[in-house]
Amino acid sequence: MPTKVLFVCLGNICRSPMAEGLFRHLASQAGYSCVVDSAGTGSWHVGEAPDPRAVACMRRFGIDISNLRARQVHPEDFKTFEIILAMDAANLKALEAMRKEGSRPRLFTEFCQLSAPEIPDPYYGGPEDFERVFRLLHTGLENLIAQLHRG
Ligand code: 4NP
Repeated sequence: MPTKVLFVCLGNICRSPMAEGLFRHLASQAGYSCVVDSAGTGSWHVGEAPDPRAVACMRRFGIDISNLRARQVHPEDFKTFEIILAMDAANLKALEAMRKEGSRPRLFTEFCQLSAPEIPDPYYGGPEDFERVFRLLHTGLENLIAQLHRG
């Protein structure tokens, strides 16, 4: 059975779809079979494609996330996904408040052994903030894949 991983941010249009696309890319390169999805704790952007700045950032690294569509976290997600990773403390708190049973959500930075406290929200920032998100996600996801490989 492949590991099922869910990445969660606020809007599901910047950080978590970037994490989803990058994880899919890195896992496939590593020959690792996985199920991956992303969702937001907020509902404002449901049904929307990722932010054009997130799409552009990922495209610079050869990854296309333009076909992803935002959705909100659902109670069923805690049963479906074994690993649920929040991009920051506020989203972790929102997930914890929502969870009745199933997998316990974790902070991405802790679970993926990053020294940064969280993945900063790039929504009100510029292209350099999206690049920083990409670099943090890349390091963290390499760690995550190594960890999953070890079992
Ligand atoms: P995300 O970024 O949580 O990384 O998708 C945001 C997207 C939208 C908003 C905030 C953060 N917003 O306030 O609409």
